[in-house]
Amino acid sequence: MRRKFIVGNWKMHKGPADADALADTLKRALAGRDAKVDVGVAPPFVSLSAVVSRLKHTGILVAAQNLHSEAQGAFTGEISGEMLRQVGVAYCLVGHSERRQFFGDTDAFVEKKVAACFRSGLLPILCVGETLAEREAGKEREVVTRQLTAAIGKLQADQVPSVTIAYEPVWAIGTGKTASPLQAQEMHATIRGWLESSFPAFVARSTRLQYGGSVKGSNAAELLKMPDIDGALVGGAALNAEEFLAIVEAANAA
Ligand code: PGA
Repeated sequence: MRRKFIVGNWKMHKGPADADALADTLKRALAGRDAKVDVGVAPPFVSLSAVVSRLKHTGILVAAQNLHSEAQGAFTGEISGEMLRQVGVAYCLVGHSERRQFFGDTDAFVEKKVAACFRSGLLPILCVGETLAEREAGKEREVVTRQLTAAIGKLQADQVPSVTIAYEPVWAIGTGKTASPLQAQEMHATIRGWLESSFPAFVARSTRLQYGGSVKGSNAAELLKMPDIDGALVGGAALNAEEFLAIVEAANAA
């Protein structure tokens, strides 16, 4: 019942012209496919308009990488969910570990950003995950549970399945070091268990959990066949159409 969901996080890569070209390649490659898998891309803010218009009517979803929690105001350099909606964006990443690490996104701010997504009609992709030090200290479950409780613990039950939860161990992001399928499955089961104990049963059954961290064409299949892994949030490999399409293909076959 949970459709696989593959999203490419382009991070700070691809200005409007390059983003449009990559979107066009994906559009051609995915045209007419049997849509067993949901596919999305998250270009940088300045490329969103070009990509939204390129991907119109293709079924390929467009996400922003971040938003501010307020609708408008004196917040120089920030972008609100309402603005993203006007551009035609459907999804928004929230709490990516790079935001938490380098830009001061605290658990409390992440909670406000999730609320801002709901207020402005965007579907959040909430990123959670432990650092290497936290894993070495045996605290990965505690950390991820804390992040989940803060970000979505107070939502109404029927809101939660609109949230995609991306488990991204920080030590696996951009490092070439993927969590093993078993390590990833274990954490996904923990997340699903948290959903089960926090909300009525339909929530855990229907909420999609993505894995992220050095996913590529060659390791996607084994990750995506795990029972609690419903998709992938892909960084580096999403910048290359062939690699990204191989991951989509693996999801189709899973
Ligand atoms: P990566 O990034 O695939 O380059 O490790 C994943 C992410 O940060 O979403």
